[in-house]
Amino acid sequence: MNTNMKVLILQASPRANGNTAWMAEEYKKAAEAAGHEATLVNVSKKKIAGCLACEYCHTRGNGACIQKDDMQELYPLMAEAEALVLAAPIYYFALNAQIQAPIQRMYCVNKPAKVVKMALLMSSYSPGVYDGATAEFRDICNYWSAENMGVVTAKNDEQKSEETKQKVVALAEKL
Ligand SMILES: Cc1cc2nc3c(=O)[nH]c(=O)nc-3n(C[C@H](O)[C@H](O)[C@H](O)COP(=O)(O)O)c2cc1C
Repeated sequence: MNTNMKVLILQASPRANGNTAWMAEEYKKAAEAAGHEATLVNVSKKKIAGCLACEYCHTRGNGACIQKDDMQELYPLMAEAEALVLAAPIYYFALNAQIQAPIQRMYCVNKPAKVVKMALLMSSYSPGVYDGATAEFRDICNYWSAENMGVVTAKNDEQKSEETKQKVVALAEKL
């Protein structure tokens, strides 16, 4: 175990007592129990717009985004994080928009500077809807040169179950 990793968990479900929020909370508790410093941000409550592709950041902006929204709070946390956990529900067979926006707004700095490990927590109603999101996550891990620590999914009948909790805890304990 690496001691004292800085872990940033982005939770993207707008349902405060939903399944994704529960998985993110369980992950945070397990990471802290293992000695890590974990920060959980509910990105669904933030105002984070999509990337404008204006290229301001890569020209006059010198790496800064022209859009001054709640992403400004997230940039410093992303810059310091060593492990990044994405937690999102599946909407229309994909990670929901609330998690895509902060990922894509990293365009200005290309990648989170210190992130070496990543994990993904997802929930859905149906089984068999995770392929697209899992592929996206795998490709982002590769692009950001981060170790893909794994994925935990919870469909309708697996949500808030002891079995799912154990999978989330095991994933956090791999940090
Ligand atoms: C807009 C929307 C789209 C959804 N699309 C899917 C889907 O494509 N497949 C699926 O299995 N569940 C879908 N769901 C259901 C959610 O993924 C499911 O209820 C999930 O557990 C919600 O997570 P939460 O409890 O963390 O909010 C959708 C829900 C919403 C609101």
